[in-house]
Amino acid sequence: MNPTPPILIANWKMNLTVDEGHRFVSGLTAAMDVPATWVGIAPMAVAMDACIKAAAGSGIKIGAQNCHWEISGAYTGELSASILKEMGAGFALVGHSERRSLFLENSQEVAKRALGAVKAGLTAAFCIGETLQERESGTTLSILKEQLTPLLSLLGSADRDKIVLAYEPVWAIGTGVVATLDQIEETHSAIAAWLLTEHGWHSPSILYGGSVKPDNYAAILSLPSVHGALVGGASLKLESFLELLNISEHQAKDNGTPQLKLSVG
Ligand code: 13P
Repeated sequence: MNPTPPILIANWKMNLTVDEGHRFVSGLTAAMDVPATWVGIAPMAVAMDACIKAAAGSGIKIGAQNCHWEISGAYTGELSASILKEMGAGFALVGHSERRSLFLENSQEVAKRALGAVKAGLTAAFCIGETLQERESGTTLSILKEQLTPLLSLLGSADRDKIVLAYEPVWAIGTGVVATLDQIEETHSAIAAWLLTEHGWHSPSILYGGSVKPDNYAAILSLPSVHGALVGGASLKLESFLELLNISEHQAKDNGTPQLKLSVG
């Protein structure tokens, strides 16, 4: 059992309209008391404001799917972390594999984005993950270290608690192929051991992402090196997200009474 509350983050990617997002978050707040779980939702940027309003007072954090490191400037199409903070965001995802592979963001840029988020007062959910080819060729850990190294050189140790790591094997994202429990635990514990021995980073929070669903989440969350999940597909429907949250609340309360009210609003 992990000592810190579990973290559950929804990455809606380019899905759910402003209205749908607002309805989802309103339904979520109606269905729960303030959760013990650290709950984050990352809608499309244009839906953030509606979601922030719907989440007011609920303890749910609304976050961005990316952010830039500069406060302002000639960066067409980018989002400033300080503006996100000003509008009421709580966190930003950075380095999602879709950003890395489709939009060619490299690890140096991703580290700068994370630092921009942290400097603006946001939590950064820093995504790392290997491709299938990299896993099959036995280079998983060296790829993950490469993805993390620029972050470690930019980030002061006092700011480490503003970073949540998310291990998302690329081959498990949106494929329905979830990594095995052994693969998840082995990878998370290897990252944590490396961060501790080489960088003096004690107890980083590491989420797992990749085809997390209500029927596999309890087992994943019970792994000692897993602190929560970053969820795509199963976060798009309120019912399945509530099931994930319920699993998380059970763990947060050490199998005590779930926090959720009975009705889904
Ligand atoms: P899925 O849960 O749909 O596999 O997506 C995972 C993900 O990319 C979350 O960031």
